[in-house]
Amino acid sequence: MSKPYVIDEMISAKAIAARVEALAREITRHFQGTDKLVVVGLLRGSFVFIADLVREIDLPVEVDFLEASSYGDGMESSREVRILKDLRGEVHGRDVLVVEDIVDTGFTLQHVVGLLRSREPARLEVCALLDKPSRREANVRATWTGFEIPDEFVVGYGIDFAQRNRNLPYIGKVRFTGDGE
Ligand code: PRP
Ligand code: MN
Ligand code: MG
Repeated sequence: MSKPYVIDEMISAKAIAARVEALAREITRHFQGTDKLVVVGLLRGSFVFIADLVREIDLPVEVDFLEASSYGDGMESSREVRILKDLRGEVHGRDVLVVEDIVDTGFTLQHVVGLLRSREPARLEVCALLDKPSRREANVRATWTGFEIPDEFVVGYGIDFAQRNRNLPYIGKVRFTGDGE
């Protein structure tokens, strides 16, 4: 059994929506004139963010997904990134935007960016909703970041703790309650 915890709101749904709109504007401006932008969501965490983000991007867009996993049900990165599902489409010679919910140690993003670069896209940029720079171990960064956050375990808006809380409309931090063994 997991220890009891509560979730304290950290970033409201309203604040997220405003930031997503601003990010989409920057992305639209950056890729202006592209024949097609392949937006790659990293499952599962990015499914909410990518859904909101693509609807604010004013460009011809293809949506694709790649499933990467490093945390399983724990709170610590395994540092071993597994690709559980590859893209359906080609990215060679295409403009690509990787969409990630959170960059923590950076191992997931580093692995995925390395994999996609080996397929030689025309341009490859990354948009991450959250960034925890204090936890970085891999030398990687997103082109655009929604919010920099402190070293707290966060959930909601797609992000899970042991596969729960992905459906919260806001970002919250996990606070353990009880005797705290
Ligand atoms: C989480 C999160 C990021 C990654 C960030 O994914 O969604 O993809 O970890 O951590 P890192 O920077 O330390 O690699 P997780 O492995 O939990 O899979 P999930 O998206 O299916 O929840
Ligand atoms: Mn993830
Ligand atoms: Mg997870």
